[in-house]
Amino acid sequence: MSIKVLVVGGGGREHAIVEALLRDGAEVYSVMKNLNPGIARGAKALRLLSETDVPQVVEFAVQCGAELAVVGPEAPLEAGLSDQLVKRGIGCVGPSQAAARLETSKRFARRLMRKHGVPGNIEFDTFRDLETARTFVNDFPGQLVVKPEGLTGGKGVKVEGEHLQGKNEVLDYVKEVLDKRIGGAGVVLEERLVGEEFTLQAFCDGRDVMGMPLVQDHKRAYEGDVGPNTGGMGSYSDADHLLPFLGNEDKDTAEDIMRRAVLALREEGTPYRGILYGQFMLTRDGPKVIEFNARFGDPEAMNVLTLLENGFLGLCQAMAEGRLGPPVPFQPQATVCKYVVPAGYGTKPQAGTPINVDEGAIVKAGATVYYAAVDEREGKVYTTTSRSLGVVGVAETIERAEEVCEAGLAHVKGDVFVRHDIGRGELLRRRVEHMRQVRG
Ligand code: AMP
Ligand code: GLY
Repeated sequence: MSIKVLVVGGGGREHAIVEALLRDGAEVYSVMKNLNPGIARGAKALRLLSETDVPQVVEFAVQCGAELAVVGPEAPLEAGLSDQLVKRGIGCVGPSQAAARLETSKRFARRLMRKHGVPGNIEFDTFRDLETARTFVNDFPGQLVVKPEGLTGGKGVKVEGEHLQGKNEVLDYVKEVLDKRIGGAGVVLEERLVGEEFTLQAFCDGRDVMGMPLVQDHKRAYEGDVGPNTGGMGSYSDADHLLPFLGNEDKDTAEDIMRRAVLALREEGTPYRGILYGQFMLTRDGPKVIEFNARFGDPEAMNVLTLLENGFLGLCQAMAEGRLGPPVPFQPQATVCKYVVPAGYGTKPQAGTPINVDEGAIVKAGATVYYAAVDEREGKVYTTTSRSLGVVGVAETIERAEEVCEAGLAHVKGDVFVRHDIGRGELLRRRVEHMRQVRG
């Protein structure tokens, strides 16, 4: 009999999770707030409701007889969904509320690293009032990054020298975050890192971590890495599971940082079970932590899960039970994922406009499509204010995977846009050259 698994969330990440579970023969149930047609098609039953409505989500899980739940986004974890599911005897891929603070409180994460001597930490402090922040800003020797303390979907962060010019603009934004209580009560100020960003996602069973292929996301809305920060416009990974600007040694360092963070949580009595996402900056002094997330990345989940033919379900069970086994083989292929987003995404996204997706033609072109924050009504797909769908190409090289991705994208039509530069040779060469300069 197949295992019943509840998947929480309705984005591209969750569609990729659902497909990976189906490949392993799981019977999938879904809770999401939008009607994602890809998930709807794969699920035995679904419930449209707020993913943070913990009592209702748990109720649905019990009703379907789910033995396991995979929580896609962070908000339900912050609301304590994992704790409540476990209380009802349902194994959960996704940490407890306490362990999820690694993502939900940037202050908690940095302090935990400091207390336990986890390497890869950077200069930071957290503030609740403008006057103390002002002294810190004025005394700080280098450039700063301003971050709301709580969750803002990656969109509340502003970087001096990019979004903010000079200390006055830094302070104006600190004031705005505090006054408007963006992301909760406080603000984090931290040293600006210079280098190339990368993502390492890992399976965690409370004791150890098992790293997946490295991925590079593209946060900026527009081609050439300009414009506002977004949830991520697209991402690529390489056939050797490293990145063109990064080798084995740096990957090992990043994985060790994550392992030590998981050990620290265990020592604190709040073991971390689920997917852990490390966002790093590769600097001239090696990988430094930008942040941790308590879940798969979105889009990064689409890159790595597309490479996993089988074994995801087994890993989910192993994480939930606290006993990771031997590593699973990700295919030695490169991937490129590009998000199709509504017109105006990044500033004023246009919801409710139709998108035409010719799935048959996309598959024929050799690409994979994952639906994201769209709504299906009467057989038609409409945009919401978030990213609409991801198209993934897989091939021997990044350049070839990019072509496959584009061949798929040609069959998506609507008032939408895509960052076509992701995964192209020119951008990759720029990354490699930038890293060479940073390393000196
Ligand atoms: P976050 O929400 O923490 O992932 O930050 C969003 C984006 O801001 C990151 O993807 C980086 O591009 C940038 N960023 C965050 N922290 C730093 C930092 N300390 N130095 C430089 N850039 C940063
Ligand atoms: N792609 C960035 C994130 O999932 O947080």
